Amino acid sequence: MRMAPRGSNGSGGGTKLLLCLLLVACTGAAGQGLRVGFYQQSCPDAESIVRNVTWPAAAADPSLAAKLLRLFFHDCFPQGCDASVLLDGRGTEKAAGPNLSLGGLEVIDAAKAALERSCPGTVSCADAVALATRDAVSFQFGRLLWQVETGRRDSRFSDEADGTKLPNPEYVFPILRDSFARRGLGVADLVALSGAHTLGRTTCMFVSPRLYTFQGNGGVDPFIEPRYARELMGQCTSMASANRVVMDPGSEFAFDTSYYRAIKANRGVLLTDSVLTHDDEAARLVDEMQDLGKFLAAFAASIQKMGAMDVLTGSQGEIRRNCRVVNY
Ligand code: HEM
Repeated sequence: MRMAPRGSNGSGGGTKLLLCLLLVACTGAAGQGLRVGFYQQSCPDAESIVRNVTWPAAAADPSLAAKLLRLFFHDCFPQGCDASVLLDGRGTEKAAGPNLSLGGLEVIDAAKAALERSCPGTVSCADAVALATRDAVSFQFGRLLWQVETGRRDSRFSDEADGTKLPNPEYVFPILRDSFARRGLGVADLVALSGAHTLGRTTCMFVSPRLYTFQGNGGVDPFIEPRYARELMGQCTSMASANRVVMDPGSEFAFDTSYYRAIKANRGVLLTDSVLTHDDEAARLVDEMQDLGKFLAAFAASIQKMGAMDVLTGSQGEIRRNCRVVNY
């Protein structure tokens, strides 16, 4: 389903591009118009309203942080954090293969409903996702891990093709690095944001090719530590296995640094996790990320950067009343 063109409310993409060309400073202008406390006047309780929904939901469901982190990434990466992934309907981003297994949507609905009750038509769904993600990840620490710049607006456009523009878990390092670079994210961002895989699970369809049909030798990926490969084979028993395996064994629900220790020990579950040790710069950063303080600081900086990519602001897009449908 293709809806109204992006930025169709006055500030068209063409105008934006022209302005960008005129202002050389445009590179790095991602997120212009966002600021911490954007709703201070218009909806002063916006952040606590979202938190009052998200923290009880995180207490009830330890997998919520994983679900929301993945949702936020899948919203932002293809074409900006604009809640386009939330729109229901045939042909929307949500209908794309990688998005069929997204979770946490009902928590976004609940947060948005609470926001609408207090401040109708004021807080965007894109901001609700950014805030709820921060809150869910922060819940286990009992304090907020990063500040969220707000002021995003919601897209009136969602295209299934965009939903497929995500990095493929079978990318080798240079291709993975370039896919992030095209979105303005460097190797430091790639290494920090990959740390999200300290949470959650993956379906065997992304793991089995490494175990049974690895490129080059038709067998097991030689970079997987042999004992771990056997463990994975016990869970993903064939190419057809539909099981789900923990991305960071032993610490599925803890937002911690054990993911980095695992990939250093060749126990990364996806190829894109393992390849972070195949490049000197990335490998050095993987070592650094084993310090929790450094990881949390780097993750905070990179998720703020990701959250500012290609956002709609000002009079662009709209403030959706219901995150699943465009306003009519
Ligand atoms: C570096 C490139 C990336 C690739 C190739 C990738 C790929 C994947 C794949 C294949 C899964 C399993 C999905 C499933 O089976 O349902 C997954 C899960 C996940 N991804 Fe990524 N991902 C990447 C980066 C990121 C980033 C940047 C974030 C967030 C900042 C993220 C957050 C997550 C989380 C939390 C899960 C677990 C979800 C759950 O258990 O509900 N990923 N990813």
